[in-house]
Amino acid sequence: MNFTLSSKPLSGLKADCVVVAIPDGDQWPASSRQVDEAIGGLLSQLKESGDLATKAGSTALVPVQANGANWPRVIAVGTGKDAERTPAVYRKAVAAAAAQLKDSAAAHVVFALTDTPVTGDDAITAENALLNVTARILEEQLYTFTDFKSEQPPARKLNKVTVVASASDAPAKAAFKLGLATGRGMNFTRDLANMPPNICNPVWLAEQAQKLASEFDEIKVDILDEDQMKELGMNTLLSVAAGSTQPARLIVMEYRGGDANDKPHVLVGKGITFDTGGISLKPGQGMDEMKYDMGGAAAVFGTMKVLAETKPKLNVVTVIAAAENMPDGSATRPGDIVTSMAGHTVEILNTDAEGRLVLCDALTYVKRFDPETVIDLATLTGAVIVALGHHATGLLGNDDALANELLAAGERTGDRAWRLPLWDEYQSSLDSNFADIQNIGGRDAGTITAACFLSRFTKEYRWAHLDIAGTAWHTGKNKGASGRPVPLLVDYLMSHAQ
Ligand code: BES
Ligand code: MN
Ligand code: ZN
Repeated sequence: MNFTLSSKPLSGLKADCVVVAIPDGDQWPASSRQVDEAIGGLLSQLKESGDLATKAGSTALVPVQANGANWPRVIAVGTGKDAERTPAVYRKAVAAAAAQLKDSAAAHVVFALTDTPVTGDDAITAENALLNVTARILEEQLYTFTDFKSEQPPARKLNKVTVVASASDAPAKAAFKLGLATGRGMNFTRDLANMPPNICNPVWLAEQAQKLASEFDEIKVDILDEDQMKELGMNTLLSVAAGSTQPARLIVMEYRGGDANDKPHVLVGKGITFDTGGISLKPGQGMDEMKYDMGGAAAVFGTMKVLAETKPKLNVVTVIAAAENMPDGSATRPGDIVTSMAGHTVEILNTDAEGRLVLCDALTYVKRFDPETVIDLATLTGAVIVALGHHATGLLGNDDALANELLAAGERTGDRAWRLPLWDEYQSSLDSNFADIQNIGGRDAGTITAACFLSRFTKEYRWAHLDIAGTAWHTGKNKGASGRPVPLLVDYLMSHAQ
């Protein structure tokens, strides 16, 4: 898809279709008025007669008969009342409009929504911020995953989208470019998480890192195999892979765009390429979805791709703990005690609480990078879905400033997180009768006790944990990866670029 930014007046932009906003009210944005005038007031007539819905997210395809019109069709997008148009409402309208384009008969579409007024914080509602999010949503909405269909759907007619903005100066271009890159990063994340687990295993995931590094000079990769991990004492990580014929990998990627002495921001991704639960076997219903238990790793990949494409001035190191959690004769048993890389002995009471076991060794490993901050991303607990549903990522950590920055990044992008407490009172649920620590707490507060486990390994740096079990994946009819929390991470990292 060819995406272009243009600040030319609409009258000079011929295309097969133009997308404009129809607010609930008399104050139309300039581009809506211009299109309306160019087609003889058709839009205002249709609105008057009640044929154009103005509810946010409603869309209508309006064929234009007028001879010589710049656009043979208009997509009119309801954007609701001015006073109620929050950033979330704006995003919803853009998503609805972009979804309409999927099956559109138009090859070239002009997209003119960013002059819509939005209420709220300037950092989110300024035109360049809207441009960024509009570009991202366009990429997101046009995503398809058909690699495994033997009959490919007919090629899409649409091949060019011109996004109109009042300026196309350097800041507008940068915002647009970042939005597109973020959308592509999300789609890369989705591709990886949607990949079936018979293909996407730890070794395959490591190959994807090597491929990314060969595509982009900015990315360096280092893969540790099981022998190297054994050497380092990463026994909790290896205990998860013990029941699988697929060997584990530690995938290290580095993006060094900053000064050599700038401390790196570190991302750690949970990369369980399939989670059966191990000997603590999961029920069969819906188990297929446990292929996205590498959603944290996939988000690391997507974020890396955005960095490589946009080249911000900062340093980022990522570590993915990749393993498959399977039950066979050599699998870890409930009751087994293993020694982590950090030296703590861990009693494994439930082999289905494997994410924390692979993460704790990765979180110990990253100390060698002398990190500015460490953020881990993991589809860690079903409990976070009970607590927050599918809208908010669970956020926990040991540093208020970092947590607040991540909350703000989530707010700015609509890729939101919500903080849960990590109070000392919860720590005792991990007391073990036989080892230093056990790998599960009780029935209560599962997301918090999982984070408590991780917190034992992150004392030496500023750390945040994002539990994305509810947000990385859509269940139901539109089953598939969401690409979250790539927007949040990109926004956070960009705010630290020089
Ligand atoms: N990968 C799962 C968590 C999960 C559940 C992700 C549902 C996405 C959707 C994780 O490894 C797991 O099994 N966690 C257990 C922990 C429990 C055994 C303490 C859980 O949440 O039930
Ligand atoms: Mn599990
Ligand atoms: Zn898991």
